[in-house]
Amino acid sequence: MLVTTKELFEKAYGKYALPAFNVNNLEFARAVAEGCTKTQSPFIFQISRGARKYAHPELLKKIIVGIHEVYPDLVFAIHLDHGDVETCEQVLKEKPLFFTSVMIDASHDTYEENIQHTRHIADLAHSVGVSVEAELGMLGGVEEDIAVDEENACLTDPAQAADFVKRSGCDSLAVAIGTSHGAYKFKGPGEPKIHMDRVQEIQRNLPERFPLVMHGSSSVPEEIVEQVNRYGGQIEGSKGVPETLLSQVPQYGVCKVNIDTDLRLAWFAAMRRELAENPGNFDPRPTFTAAIDEVAKLVARKTEVLGSAGHLSDFK
Ligand code: G3H
Ligand code: 13P
Ligand code: ZN
Repeated sequence: MLVTTKELFEKAYGKYALPAFNVNNLEFARAVAEGCTKTQSPFIFQISRGARKYAHPELLKKIIVGIHEVYPDLVFAIHLDHGDVETCEQVLKEKPLFFTSVMIDASHDTYEENIQHTRHIADLAHSVGVSVEAELGMLGGVEEDIAVDEENACLTDPAQAADFVKRSGCDSLAVAIGTSHGAYKFKGPGEPKIHMDRVQEIQRNLPERFPLVMHGSSSVPEEIVEQVNRYGGQIEGSKGVPETLLSQVPQYGVCKVNIDTDLRLAWFAAMRRELAENPGNFDPRPTFTAAIDEVAKLVARKTEVLGSAGHLSDFK
């Protein structure tokens, strides 16, 4: 069943968070579907502009529509990740509509421009029944084609959040609380600094049950990185968001947790192992099957961590 993120968040609020998995191709889409079937979890497929460019927007659509047909019992939203005004406008004018949710990311613009762009996309999206995520504050790392260094990343201002939500008309808010995209989220030794106190303050300032979103939320599991490196990879000094913290975020109103990097790492852990252990093989299928299985296993684990496992029945 296809749903909007708004419908997912209404059920999940305060109890569990929906994993939002980035997909670029058939293999990752299948792995997500398999993992979520295993744990009976609702989820979000998210598609970036880079994914559309890589796979061709129409081909990627057919893959997701195919997943919908082949896995009729699954419940998911189809979300545009880090959309700009032009792409949001384009997908919201499509007939038939494909995306059930869009993110308008104008967080790199001025505060007033961010409100203006988000309001424009929210009006357009709501007129066709699509949900809207916006972002306030700025994450570090690279997203799409924009790189933000740590000094220029800025946390979401809780005082501004209420004004932003009211004036922009968005349905959920992505907050910058110290995470960043990619495998190198935190420098130096010790526990990563993630500002959960700020999330609580933002939640207190917003209307009741207003859904929050966490980007840059891969955990960069040590054992997966270790496997990548064991078979020739060079991922050094990587660090992610601890799973223990992710398990706690639903109680603070976080309803959507974005995961891309971990899926990529799991894919390469399996690919590198398979290639190293089967040097004579030139049939891609067994190699890809092993990688799909590894990603599916990770997907299932994420649903357990975020508490969405077993909640497919919420939508029956
Ligand atoms: O924003 C970051 C997401 O991981 C999407 O990445 O732009 O490389 O597809 P991408
Ligand atoms: P990660 O790089 O931590 O997986 O974050 C992905 C993301 O936020 C996509 O929007
Ligand atoms: Zn993101």
